[in-house]
Amino acid sequence: MAQDFPDVEPQDWVITETEIQWSIDVENIPWEDDPHMELPEGVKTYTVNSNEAEGRADFFIRFPEGYIEPEHTHPSAHAVMIIDGTMTVHGHTLTSGDYIYGQKLPHGPMEYHSEDADYGCLVFASFVGGSPAHEWDEDPNE
Ligand SMILES: [Fe+2]
Repeated sequence: MAQDFPDVEPQDWVITETEIQWSIDVENIPWEDDPHMELPEGVKTYTVNSNEAEGRADFFIRFPEGYIEPEHTHPSAHAVMIIDGTMTVHGHTLTSGDYIYGQKLPHGPMEYHSEDADYGCLVFASFVGGSPAHEWDEDPNE
């Protein structure tokens, strides 16, 4: 059973933009259908480390070209780092090395693009403090 998130005032979302560039051999990552976030179909993940009792999950995410992640909340907080491609959210277009933090407060929608449509936008996400399962109303990809 996951621990409850600490009883603190939720922090608003944060965006930090950097100039970091990454080199990832995406073909050698053992992608699987996402078991964590319960998002609309099409998202692949590679789990680096997770512990449900701690309410923690760290994983790479691969969003298909043009994918829209619906506006959502989740019991956990997350830090997300863009590895390759772009995430457009709240009027910002985030690129490699940029960071976004979100938690219980609604955030999104996020739209993902990549110059390499074969694997889409790649990010690393660290969820902590509860389930990473997303709560959302409508699938904007339909
Ligand atoms: Fe989120």
